[in-house]
Amino acid sequence: MKYQIPTGTKDALPEETRRWQYLEMRIRDVMLRYRYEEIRTPAFEYTELFKRSIGEATDVVGKEMYTFTDKGGESLTLRPEMTASVMRAYIQHNLGGQHCVNKLYYIGPMFRQERPQKGRLRQFHQFGCESLGSPAPEADVETMLVALTIYRELGIHSLNFIINSVGCPECRPAYREKLTGYLTPLGDKLSPESRNRLSSNPMRILDSKNETDQSLTQNAPMIHDHLCPECKSHFQRVQSLLDTMNIEYRVDGRLVRGLDYYTKTAYEIQSAQLGSQNALGGGGRYDLLCADLDGKNTPAVGFAAGMERLLIVMDSLQLSVPDPVPPKVFLIALGEKAMAAMSTIAYRLRSRGIACDMDYLNRSLKAQMREANKLNVPFAIILGEQELEQNICIIKNMSNGDQSSVPLDQIADKIV
Ligand code: HAM
Repeated sequence: MKYQIPTGTKDALPEETRRWQYLEMRIRDVMLRYRYEEIRTPAFEYTELFKRSIGEATDVVGKEMYTFTDKGGESLTLRPEMTASVMRAYIQHNLGGQHCVNKLYYIGPMFRQERPQKGRLRQFHQFGCESLGSPAPEADVETMLVALTIYRELGIHSLNFIINSVGCPECRPAYREKLTGYLTPLGDKLSPESRNRLSSNPMRILDSKNETDQSLTQNAPMIHDHLCPECKSHFQRVQSLLDTMNIEYRVDGRLVRGLDYYTKTAYEIQSAQLGSQNALGGGGRYDLLCADLDGKNTPAVGFAAGMERLLIVMDSLQLSVPDPVPPKVFLIALGEKAMAAMSTIAYRLRSRGIACDMDYLNRSLKAQMREANKLNVPFAIILGEQELEQNICIIKNMSNGDQSSVPLDQIADKIV
C-alpha cells in the first residue's frame, strides 16, 4: 500500500467516531453544568507563544514541537497544548475586561512529536478547562471536580488522583537550591536525562520514571515541606475542600508536571489501566502566565486530559457507548421508476425532519428487507411500479409486521 497514515496518528472510522461523539457529548454536558463555555483557537500559533509559556527547557518545547517557517518567514507551531493559546486569546480579546472570571473549555487535536506507543500519539486529542481570574483554592478544586465528574459519569471509578503544590517564585528558589544541594553529589549515579536536568530543572528529576533515579531521590527534600505561608495555606485549603467532599486523593511531592508555567497547585489523574503512559489528565494553577505573556496579572487554574487514553481505559473496563439511533424509515423501491420517485420521497421526509435512508442498487425486495432489518428501523416503506401508478405505497411496521397502503402525500403523517 503506497499511502499510509503518518506515524503517530489515527483515523477514526465511523464506528470509532461514534465513540468520540459520545465522549464529546458527555464532556460538554458536564462542562455546561459547571458553566464553562467553549473556546476554539487555531491549530497553530506563533512559536514564541509556546516557548514563552511552556518553557524552553521542557521536553515539549525542546524536543516535541512541530515547528515550521511559513512562506512569509514566520515561525509557527502546531499547538502542543491549549493553555497557552487560551491565555493568548484571553489577553488579545480582553476577556478579563468583560468578566471578572472567565471559565473556558475546549476539545480538540494537539500535536507533539513524541515516540509513539500505547496512549502516546503525535496527533492526539485533549479536552480541558481553564478558569481565569480567581485566586481561590475553590477554583482549583472546581477544575478537579470537572475532570473527576466526567470520568465518574463515564463509569470510571478506580482512578489515582494525585496532588502537590509546586510553590511560587517566593518559595521555589530556596527549595530548588536545597534540592540541587541534595542531588548534586548523586550526579554520576543519576540517569543521563536527570543529570541534564540538574541545572535546567532539578524538580523534574523527582518525577523521573527511571527506577535508580526514584530510589536515589527517596529521601530528597519535598517542596510541600518548604512552601511559603501563602502557598502552604492555599494547599491546605485545597486539601480540606477535597476532604469535605470526600474526594479521595494522595499528596505526592514528586508530582512536578512537565510544563514550566505552574505555581501552587499541580495535579494529575492516573489510571492503572494505561501502563507506562498512565496519566489520564493533569493540570494546576498558573498565576504568572498571563503577566508573562504581557497581560494583566490574572490568577488561573485548569486541566487537560487525553481523549485517546480515556478511550483505552473505557475499552479495558469494557464500558460501551450507546448504540446509534437508527433512521426512522428504510425506503424500498422496486424498479427504476420507483427508485426515482423514492428519492424524491426521501428528500421530502428528510426535509420534514424524518431520518431515512434508501438503497440505490435496485436490489430485490428480499435484499432490501434484509437491509431494513439490519438497520433496525421502526418502519419500511415499499414502492413498486404498481403502487407508483396508483400514487400509493406500503408502510410496514417492522416491530409487529403490520402493513397498510398509504397515499404518497400522506407518508410523513403516518410515521411521525
Ligand atoms: P499535559 O500533562 O501535557 O498537560 O497533557 C494533559 C494530558 O494530555 C495528559 O495527561 C495525557 O492524557 C494527554 N497527552 C499528552 N501528550 C499526549 C500524547 N503524546 N499522546 C496522547 N495523549 C497525550 C497539558 O497539556 C496542560 N495544558 C494541562 C493544563 C491545562 N494545565 C493547566 N491547564
